[in-house]
Amino acid sequence: MYNNHHQHEPQSGAFVSFSEISLAKKNSDRIKRSGFETDSSSFTDKLINWLESRRSVVKLIEPAPSQEQLLDAIHCAMTAPDHKKLKPWRFIVTAGDARLSLAEALLASAIAQAQRAGELVDEKTRCKTLNMPLRAPVIITVVTQMRYHEKVPHFEQMLSAGACIQNLILALQAQGFASVWRTGLLANEAEIKRYFNVGAEDYIAGFIYVGTPASPVPTRQKLSVDEYVTFDM
Ligand SMILES: Cc1cc2nc3c(=O)[nH]c(=O)nc-3n(C[C@H](O)[C@H](O)[C@H](O)COP(=O)(O)O)c2cc1C
Repeated sequence: MYNNHHQHEPQSGAFVSFSEISLAKKNSDRIKRSGFETDSSSFTDKLINWLESRRSVVKLIEPAPSQEQLLDAIHCAMTAPDHKKLKPWRFIVTAGDARLSLAEALLASAIAQAQRAGELVDEKTRCKTLNMPLRAPVIITVVTQMRYHEKVPHFEQMLSAGACIQNLILALQAQGFASVWRTGLLANEAEIKRYFNVGAEDYIAGFIYVGTPASPVPTRQKLSVDEYVTFDM
């Protein structure tokens, strides 16, 4: 199901330059140890640049991360801020033919949703829905696993799951893979929740589609930050 390559070079310079970053980090560590210089600004600049240039990618093909790479990325995900260390999440990796079963569950959800609206699923929607899980070689479904804790309301656990997903996405990108976080209207339909054994108080926080970009990833335009920020000092 998985290929076992450990080093996967990015396809587009604008997309990832993490190998450069690790090299810069090694260099800056070496410089620090040498006692000649303590400035690691080049590493910091590269890392900031890398974070700023992150893009979601919807056209994803093989190669996909190996099982080992997925576990490493999930490990990073689980270092997300997590009040009282409740680990309020679960990860389900779907790949290969298992995506066909997920497709059937999505279709059942679409049919149930249409029925509630007194409608039928037409052929176009049927095909589109069945094709959804085939849009990437691997899908990581991240499910909240709400815990009871008097000091940690559910909304905090939900935020923690979101932070965990962002870490997951960044770790995958660091490994040279691209992804897109999707939910869509079907994600929390009863049929899909049953499929992933999601509890009544829990949610599918995201379907993280993962793979290699099918085409060069567009660069991100610089964002205007000022209007969203207030400095009160
Ligand atoms: C909780 C959540 C659910 C999302 N669901 C979808 C989705 O179902 N379909 C979609 O096209 N984008 C979805 N997005 C947005 C994409 O993941 C992505 O952020 C967006 O396309 C912007 O691209 P960028 O990440 O390159 O800025 C979702 C994002 C979040 C945070």
